[in-house]
Amino acid sequence: MRTHPGTTRTSRLLGSLLLVAAAGVSSFAAAPAPSGRAEPPLTPLGRIVPAPMRVEAGGEGYEITARTRIRAATPEERRAGEYLAKVLRPSTGYRLPLTDRAGGDGIRLRISAEPRNKALGAEGYRVLSTRGSLTITSWTGAGLFHGVQTVRQQLPAAVEKRTGQRGPWRIAGGTITDMPRYGYRSTMLDVARHFFTVDQVKRYIDQAALYKMNKLHLHLSDDQGWRIAVDSWPRLATYGGSTQVGGGAGGHYTKAQYKEIVAYAAARHMKVVPEIDMPGHTNAALASYAELNCDGVAPPLYTGTAVGFSSLCVKKDVTYDFVDDVIRELAAMTPGEYLHIGGDEAHSTSHEDFTAFMARVQPLVAEYGKTVLGWHQLTGAKPAEGAVAQYWGYDRTGAAERERVVNAAKNGTRLVLSPADRSYLDMKYTKDTPLGLDWAGFVEVRRSYDWDPATYLPGVPADAVMGVEAPLWTETLSTSAHLEHMAFPRLPGIAELGWSPAATHDWEAYRTRLAAQAPRWDALGIGYHRSPQVPWPAR
Ligand code: ACM
Repeated sequence: MRTHPGTTRTSRLLGSLLLVAAAGVSSFAAAPAPSGRAEPPLTPLGRIVPAPMRVEAGGEGYEITARTRIRAATPEERRAGEYLAKVLRPSTGYRLPLTDRAGGDGIRLRISAEPRNKALGAEGYRVLSTRGSLTITSWTGAGLFHGVQTVRQQLPAAVEKRTGQRGPWRIAGGTITDMPRYGYRSTMLDVARHFFTVDQVKRYIDQAALYKMNKLHLHLSDDQGWRIAVDSWPRLATYGGSTQVGGGAGGHYTKAQYKEIVAYAAARHMKVVPEIDMPGHTNAALASYAELNCDGVAPPLYTGTAVGFSSLCVKKDVTYDFVDDVIRELAAMTPGEYLHIGGDEAHSTSHEDFTAFMARVQPLVAEYGKTVLGWHQLTGAKPAEGAVAQYWGYDRTGAAERERVVNAAKNGTRLVLSPADRSYLDMKYTKDTPLGLDWAGFVEVRRSYDWDPATYLPGVPADAVMGVEAPLWTETLSTSAHLEHMAFPRLPGIAELGWSPAATHDWEAYRTRLAAQAPRWDALGIGYHRSPQVPWPAR
């Protein structure tokens, strides 16, 4: 049935009035005169995390209103547009329809292969905010997505709430031109020590995506639990995944659930990097299949927090049948390039066995089309051509161990840096932090932020550093609130080290920008450590 245009307008008006009422902001009429109302302060252009590459502030910026349309034509443009609309609609109460018609007004999302956009690489973007329009331009969907995250942070924090809020929804005027310093910006979630549900993982993905991280490293196996279904070795998940630290029920992801996580991350331009930690940290696998043990006897499941006591049997052929099956099945459902094979703390594996094991296992990763990533102990064996080592040392790591990593980097092994005394999100902030560990010392916000990935390991060629990671180990963490208290505010700082140009690195400026994020976390329901090093706004 066609509706008379007049009716359409009326019902639209009615609709928005209803929306406003339903959103609980119908008290507008009773509010004081506009002049007496506190407007949210305009966020100066570029005062976001991570700091953008270039900011040219000026002019009257854009205001999102009830009439704003989102102009997006190609599938990538529409995906970014839908994501932005989903953030904006509940809090603004506006319809924000998408349209594929070109036009000079509204929010315009544009994929463009112009040389100046291509020059911003696979993830760069430009945001132009003027009185009449807000334009996000990029060569890629990932760039548009990062531009959307920038726009989100330029808006008042209340935009993050899921109920109707009072505007205005203004964005400061000017241009942001932005691209990342490093292509690998990761956070790791240890779902082995404590199991986290698909919804909990999605929540964490959203938090990392807000800060432009582009990898989610999932630590899928350890002594305390095996968390991914493997069809050819079903007891890994059903038995090996049946507990966790402290003895809870544990859990595992079915293949469908793993794919759901991968797809959710991909929709946020993050790739999942799955880790099967080997040859140590394998008690859950050894408990599930007796034949994987050198003595043929399966140990009991383990729910403590000690490390270094387990090892796959390096001399048995069945070990490599097992590894082949696991890597094949995992690679088949992982679109990303990297597969992490662990290799840390193999204290129950002799050096000779460790080297032999890595020599047989690395080619399997290549056989199934993936690139090897391993903890930096991989440099104590012979890293495969193209392999990446993840450095997790700290200030007390011995000179010989550092030197092995530096030499490997000089010989072509690329590095992801996650120094434990800087980027480990599970380290306590201070002696009073109720959660977390302290073997790498206390890591307050400044210590976590104030280092440079390019110079952190002297002697490493700058181009060997592929990026950074913030790992979140969960021996002491079992809820999303726990994760968030440890990740915030340090995760945004590691994200900034991965994204922002070195020239923007400045603790005083950073802590001010970081403080301005707090109302956003409050709006999103993210609890955080109110570090005394940061000038948080009063609550
Ligand atoms: C590690 O922290 N064992 C990589």
